[in-house]
Amino acid sequence: MKALVINGPNLNMLGKREPGVYGHKTLDEINEKVSREAGEMGMEVEFFQSNHEGAIVDCIQQAMVRVDAIVINPGAFTHYSVALRDAIAAVGLPCVEVHLSNIHAREEFRKTSVTAPVCAGQISGFGPESYILGLHAVRAMLQKGK
Ligand code: DQA
Repeated sequence: MKALVINGPNLNMLGKREPGVYGHKTLDEINEKVSREAGEMGMEVEFFQSNHEGAIVDCIQQAMVRVDAIVINPGAFTHYSVALRDAIAAVGLPCVEVHLSNIHAREEFRKTSVTAPVCAGQISGFGPESYILGLHAVRAMLQKGK
């Protein structure tokens, strides 16, 4: 069982970026933790980060033949990228949207996700733990054969 963990724009800046909102851990540190937890859950994980919408679309399309599920933090693309939404819908893989911060408790524009409706669900507000919860969610879906 293999999951692809995708991070969108500015998430490569974690650790330095607004630590009061996103915490002090770098993306590498978060990925290491996710990798360890995945191993304990009997899962394999692959990571991808890009600041470019088209690169993420390419990655999602290619995921179809490589992985069983996707955990995605689309960053700001969450709020307006119809291209990402369409890519997620097109591949039809089990997909869970995750956010470090609680996007529903922040600015109005962050409360809208154009990507969540084509995902199985959204996990928001648990810091790095959101990714682990996302992995548990996709694993449960795969085990149920969804
Ligand atoms: C984010 C929330 C988004 O609104 C923001 O643009 C991000 C990070 C989060 O993980 O909390 O880049 O996706």
